[in-house]
Amino acid sequence: MDKNIYVELIRKAEEVKKKAYVPYSNYHVGAAVLTKSGKIYTGCNIESASYTPTICAERTAISKAVSEGDREIEAIAVIGDSEYTFPCGVCRQVIREFGKNIKVIIAKSEEDYKVFTLDELLPHSFGPNDLKQSQAGRK
Ligand code: THU
Repeated sequence: MDKNIYVELIRKAEEVKKKAYVPYSNYHVGAAVLTKSGKIYTGCNIESASYTPTICAERTAISKAVSEGDREIEAIAVIGDSEYTFPCGVCRQVIREFGKNIKVIIAKSEEDYKVFTLDELLPHSFGPNDLKQSQAGRK
């Protein structure tokens, strides 16, 4: 994948990070999803006074892509308030739903980032194929 597209995704993630609604943690995260169609969907984290409904930036961005009918995710860039903000376990599983080879770009800045495949971040994962192979699926 072209490096320029990584930089564009990081730029968009940085931009949407400013919109994070984080009155409880004050921890800002932005994410940008690239789909096969070439479109980019962005998302920020959105917290809740009752805490558990909080949604991470990654899942906000994925929800936007999928609800537009755009499910062929190729890459997702993430930038947060840590030096490198890695996706939480729940987000890794949600990314997994759409592919093991999705590139996950963990950015500190546009110049400084690490790229992993989802499979590297969530090895030996459970996914859609497991349900296809189940007894229930064979009925
Ligand atoms: N958060 C994300 O948005 N993405 C991550 O990958 C890690 C955590 C959010 C959730 C919560 O709003 C805040 O960061 C602190 O956990």
